[in-house]
Amino acid sequence: MRALSVFAVPLALLALAHTGSPEATAAAQKDKGPALAPTPVDTNMHDFMEGVFQAPYRRLKAAMAAEPKDAPAWKAIRSDALILAEGGNLLLLRKPAKDADLWAKWSALSRDAGGDLFKAAKAKDYPAAKKAYEAMLGHCNACHKKFEDGKHILAP
Ligand code: HEC
Repeated sequence: MRALSVFAVPLALLALAHTGSPEATAAAQKDKGPALAPTPVDTNMHDFMEGVFQAPYRRLKAAMAAEPKDAPAWKAIRSDALILAEGGNLLLLRKPAKDADLWAKWSALSRDAGGDLFKAAKAKDYPAAKKAYEAMLGHCNACHKKFEDGKHILAP
């Protein structure tokens, strides 16, 4: 007990001296354990879109070009639809300071259209899947138009 208090005082002073620095904040968080609310990984939007959205989009584009022939092809579409739909939820954690309401609207719309694509793929319904896929891309592109000056307009 005595040994503990001998160390505790200098440690507390050290902690006080570091208050406010990023190291202190990170250390304080570490002491509390991991953040239990959804917490975006520290990346910029470019790395996020490239890392999370780009690959499933490219696979879907190829997979949706013609009616899928077998169950594994539909399964792959379901998987990518779900990744992009849940990706819409992740975008809601990354709202910009300006025009956050528009950002949130297109994130939610692309999430919901991705969910429709998932459902249609589960039912192996190509016309419905195509409709949901194109609707989803319309919402992706609406956000790209507004927040990216129209770069990366994605073709179905
Ligand atoms: C709420 C806004 C928003 C939505 C919705 C959105 N994106 Fe993006 N996306 C961005 C922004 C911002 C960038 C530009 C990032 C940068 O390079 O700075 C981007 C860039 C991209 C890129 C280019 C990545 C690269 O390598 O430069 C791809 C691919 C992409 N998005 C795919 C998608 C797809 C697919 C969807 C829909 C399923 C989607 N995005 C929905 C905001 C959005």
